[in-house]
Amino acid sequence: MRLRNVKHAGEMIAMYPNIIIGTPTDFKGKWNECFGNNNPIEIEIGCGKGKFIQEIASRQPEKNFIGIEKFDSVIIRALEKVIEYPLPNLRLIRIDADKLPEIFDTLEISKIYLNFSDPWPKKRTAKRRLTSTQFLDRYSRILKQGSNIIMKTDNSELFEFSKIEFNESQYFDLDVINNDLYSNMPDDNIQTEFEQKFVEKGNKIFYLKATFKGDKHEEDL
Ligand SMILES: C[S@@+](CC[C@H](N)C(=O)[O-])C[C@H]1O[C@@H](n2cnc3c(N)ncnc32)[C@H](O)[C@@H]1O
Repeated sequence: MRLRNVKHAGEMIAMYPNIIIGTPTDFKGKWNECFGNNNPIEIEIGCGKGKFIQEIASRQPEKNFIGIEKFDSVIIRALEKVIEYPLPNLRLIRIDADKLPEIFDTLEISKIYLNFSDPWPKKRTAKRRLTSTQFLDRYSRILKQGSNIIMKTDNSELFEFSKIEFNESQYFDLDVINNDLYSNMPDDNIQTEFEQKFVEKGNKIFYLKATFKGDKHEEDL
């Protein structure tokens, strides 16, 4: 199903509140009620048009998945996919990820995927990068101890920046660094929309996996 009118994307999103959750803050601490089970919840931040989140949710029905995207005009493309092929373990949220701790409670999330995040190359916008110290702090407030953040990108500057941020973070251990995913490809890789384009162009794909150590925040000590 093609939702043609991007101009009225907001209205279309409002028509499907069971897929794109209308007021996600209502579910803080009780996302299990939204899914009707206690299965682990994994999120993709910046899910774009939703190819990855749709595919992983269909391959792993024993887990729940939420795609998070900040733009109406983009998330309606993900909505189309879910309308076409509904999955009980998949939801979408239209929100800026800087609001994550308002939506999820501590320990509520079991994995975060960061696929081809916007690079924000200028220094003055570095805090908007999804692996900045500010975002790692937000992730540490919602992740379960021992859970992972998986990142893929073709942008070497963003990758270098991210390695430094994870290494300097009190909350995370950087476990896996792969500087050429396609020369050492795991069986379960799911290509995202941007990944497909970048691979066709011959770009190298970088990959990392970090683990949340579960350290307490200063205000909790
Ligand atoms: C380069 S696209 C990648 C899309 C998809 N993950 C892929 O690999 O095909 C990055 C997406 O992240 C979204 N995004 C960037 N910053 C975000 C934020 N703070 N919160 C939610 N979405 C964000 C953008 O709107 C865009 O759709």
